[in-house]
Amino acid sequence: MNTPENLAQIGVVGLAVMGSNLARNFASRGHTVAVYNRSPEKTRTLIAEHGTDGNFIASETIEDFVASLERPRKAIIMVQAGPATDAVISQLADAMEDGDIIIDGGNALFNDTIRREKEMAERNRHFVGAGISGGEEGALNGPSIMPGGPKESWETLGPLLESIAAVVDGTPCVTHIGPDGAGHFVKMVHNGIEYADMQVIGEAYQLLRFGAGMEPAEIADVFAEWNRGDLDSYLIEITAEVLRQVDAETGKPLVDVILDAAGQKGTGRWTVKEALDLGVPVTGIGEAVFARALSSSLDQRKAAQGNLPTGALKTFQELNLDKERFVEDVRRALYASKLVAYSQGFDEIKAGSDEYGWGVDPRDLATIWRGGCIIRAKFLNRIVEAYDNDPALPALLLDPYFKGELGDLIDSWREVVIVATQLGLPVPVFSSSLSYYDSLRAERLPAAIIQGQRDFFGAHTYRRIDKEGTFHTQWSGDRSEIES
Ligand code: ATR
Repeated sequence: MNTPENLAQIGVVGLAVMGSNLARNFASRGHTVAVYNRSPEKTRTLIAEHGTDGNFIASETIEDFVASLERPRKAIIMVQAGPATDAVISQLADAMEDGDIIIDGGNALFNDTIRREKEMAERNRHFVGAGISGGEEGALNGPSIMPGGPKESWETLGPLLESIAAVVDGTPCVTHIGPDGAGHFVKMVHNGIEYADMQVIGEAYQLLRFGAGMEPAEIADVFAEWNRGDLDSYLIEITAEVLRQVDAETGKPLVDVILDAAGQKGTGRWTVKEALDLGVPVTGIGEAVFARALSSSLDQRKAAQGNLPTGALKTFQELNLDKERFVEDVRRALYASKLVAYSQGFDEIKAGSDEYGWGVDPRDLATIWRGGCIIRAKFLNRIVEAYDNDPALPALLLDPYFKGELGDLIDSWREVVIVATQLGLPVPVFSSSLSYYDSLRAERLPAAIIQGQRDFFGAHTYRRIDKEGTFHTQWSGDRSEIES
């Protein structure tokens, strides 16, 4: 029988890498941690390897696990997303009591989280969908955590999560994001932004390598240098490391022997699907997801390689480009495209928050993404400042600081897109972000033509710029306009 003294403050179900590391993180902060995994071998391994690093209570049944938790019981589920998560939630809910808290720390689809929260609320169980970012290392040493769910759960759970989160300038990288699915929604968009962030780095690499003809080690130095300025970020830092790595087997740069087919687990795709439903253009994220899909279409690529007309391409030398200048132009194009991707991602979060009534504060997100997570970057401080200056900023790009930056970046950005086109190198995010930018600031868009076409073939009507109302031109009649 457990006495209050030997109960655990928190429990972790699912002891694959993320779950084990999270449990070890809790233990390292002085908490007693209950641990359980469906197959007991993983539990035994964790205890054998790390049991003396802190206080663990290992159980081999879910009932014993639940009985080893202090009330209100708090258990974090770290199992495979989907049916496995539902199965574990149901087992926990059966064994738990009113007021206990079940936390799903996996990458669940936010609609599932909304459904699960409702189901749990009906059974007087609190359910918190929490996005956790930072990968294995973050889970162990300090992730960025995005919990949704009821506010009252946050009051109990907050201090525990704060104790294991990454800390930047004294602020833990965790806060209550909003009710039900808010946490998993913002984690989803975070991952979408991560896709775009990775792709723009890839595009910069592509231009330096196959445009300017630089070697991976030299490009690694460029990235390391960029990491000392505005682009200072985890992803830029690790890119330099990847580029420096030499394959032990062949002696070639590792990047040259890695198959250029990017995988994905789905959160980027979800971000784009949801953006389509919300009607928010996340072109940077969309192009990044499609770029991964295209890279993985190996048969199609093979059929097309050397087999499609290129037109009159130019070489870097023929374009008379100065290498140093070009490197700086590419840095600026990367920075500008990254800004667009973040601006669009924050637009999606705002739209989601409005649609589902979550009241998400974008400033909070920029704050908790500064550490622990994969997109951590110095640049997020600027986003915090942007929302400090104007909490109702219509778009991140319109913040005075970022507008100033864009003024410095825009010429290089245009130049790089032109050069990439002349070299025949693909830059889907650089170029689509520039088109988005030009669309956003355009006085007139071709949408007027589209409205005309829609009215022509489907009598869909249009509005006019000079008077109120809805109008239709009688295209198949005398082409006079009527108010409809
Ligand atoms: P990783 O990618 O890190 O391996 P994952 O695939 O997301 O992690 O999750 C694996 C975890 O989910 C494991 O702890 C696994 O339990 P087992 O070790 O028993 O396989 C757990 N898991 C998967 N399906 C489950 C289910 N239906 N019920 C309980 N746990 C389950």
